[in-house]
Amino acid sequence: MRAILPLLFSALLLGSLAEVTARAEAPPDFQKDVLPVFEEKCIRCHGGKRRGGKLDMRTLEAMLEGGDTGPALKPGNAKKSLLIELIHYKEMPPKKEEPFITPTELEMLRRWINAMPDKT
Ligand code: HEC
Repeated sequence: MRAILPLLFSALLLGSLAEVTARAEAPPDFQKDVLPVFEEKCIRCHGGKRRGGKLDMRTLEAMLEGGDTGPALKPGNAKKSLLIELIHYKEMPPKKEEPFITPTELEMLRRWINAMPDKT
């Protein structure tokens, strides 16, 4: 038993390390990671009754359809996604309309869009 314990322990440790790495590499999930941020910071103006720029941000489909300026995001290409551009230049949410998107959240949104399969 005494010989087995350290082995068991390292197996457990390795197992959880692998799990942590897998989690860090998995792309963000719309329902779990993205939507809560949009709900807190965007959807009061982009969904339901109010739709600034005619953009509804409650579903991926609606964002792909986009608003007055066209699709809000381009799958696989965060750089060319209007939504990312507007957050990056601090135009969305509009000035004085807190809460703003944090740098960590912006990075997560970029990873989310870049991991999206581009069907065009
Ligand atoms: C206080 C209300 C408000 C909040 C909060 C807000 N927006 Fe907006 N948004 C608007 C309005 C109004 C417009 C359209 C007029 C304009 O372009 O200024 C707009 C336009 C946009 C557009 C361009 C739509 C188009 O096709 O023309 C995008 C993309 C966008 N918002 C993304 C976001 C994101 C992402 C967030 C959250 C981080 C956000 N907005 C938060 C009010 C808001």
